[in-house]
Amino acid sequence: MTAIAPRPLPDPLTVLGIESSCDDTGAALVRHRAGGTPEILSNIVIGQNALHAGFGGIVPEIAARAHAEKLDLAVEEALDQAGLTLADVDAIAVTAGPGLIGGVLSGVMLAKGLAAARGLPLLGVNHLAGHALTPRLTGPLEFPYLMLLVSGGHCQFLLVNGPDSYRRLGGTIDDAPGEAFDKVAKLLGLPQPGGPAVEAEAAQGDPARFALPRPLADRPGCDMSFSGLKTAVLRQRDLLVSEHGGLRAQDRADLCAGFQAAVADLLALKTARALQASKTPLQALAVAGGVAANRALRARLEDVADAAGLRCIAPPLALCTDNAAMIAWAGIERLRARGTPDDMQLSARPRWPLDPGAAPMLGSGKRGAKA
Ligand code: KG4
Ligand code: ZN
Repeated sequence: MTAIAPRPLPDPLTVLGIESSCDDTGAALVRHRAGGTPEILSNIVIGQNALHAGFGGIVPEIAARAHAEKLDLAVEEALDQAGLTLADVDAIAVTAGPGLIGGVLSGVMLAKGLAAARGLPLLGVNHLAGHALTPRLTGPLEFPYLMLLVSGGHCQFLLVNGPDSYRRLGGTIDDAPGEAFDKVAKLLGLPQPGGPAVEAEAAQGDPARFALPRPLADRPGCDMSFSGLKTAVLRQRDLLVSEHGGLRAQDRADLCAGFQAAVADLLALKTARALQASKTPLQALAVAGGVAANRALRARLEDVADAAGLRCIAPPLALCTDNAAMIAWAGIERLRARGTPDDMQLSARPRWPLDPGAAPMLGSGKRGAKA
């Protein structure tokens, strides 16, 4: 039997990325010439905040329906903005997990349909790999590096050894930090999303006024916990309300400052530990996810990287949060590394750990179990 020679990859490669694993519907086009700088031709994100606002969290059925409604629109807009048609696309990369299964399914079905109709290679991408590889989309960076992923749904340290090779060094055992920021904002009467609101209040506050805990700081290893911290804020708030008949502006600011300092302390401490646990010379410390927008946290992480003699890389916020450009890029990385696409058996996976050797985590966060 004669072996079928693998089809040579076009150069440059133009890949359509599709993302629908949580509450953002994304489509993007990324072009890359071998050895060159990747180019984001378009990156459309249609958010769902308004649809979930009344429910205190993401409602999976509402999310899935909204993705099904908006995905083809997002793809059309991405093609329009890039000035391309499907005839210019060389492959389709889609988030195939982990995430809320209805949304992931919507994306995978669309990608399969497009790939079958146009005879294009189909690439099922792990959403976490999309985040983890983003620093290589935004600038030159060699493997290995340490990635701290901190958002409303993610919290983990990943040692990134290659497009297909990850080691999970630790993560939250309960809430994700963004989730804790959102809950603290809620219990202090601040608007959602809570992170930016808490950060603005914290700027007026005294971080040392309340002695808030640093959960798991003394426990060896890189696992984290944020749920007890949020409960400590709640207790302190109740105490203040019973003493003064309400929460005064300065109390609120001091609580925000104390909470933010505790999160930054914990993440800095555990990041320093994760750098040590990597046990390999690293190229950089990278951070991604919505919480990476927090300036107090960034400053602390820069100090930790400095002390270890490393660069600290935080991609621009639009590429730190959920988007489809990172999925297209992860598809390109995979094609260049392995060359083999998926077939029509590609399935949507609610759970899909990047590091199959890592113990399953207890915590999942409000956005669903991520890995
Ligand atoms: O990555 P992202 O947009 O979405 C997912 O979680 O998937 O992250 C959103 C999270 C929210 O919980 C939000 O409160 C938090 O990131 N966040 C922040 C800041 N900006 C956004 N947390 C702390 N400080 C900020 N400046
Ligand atoms: Zn994400």
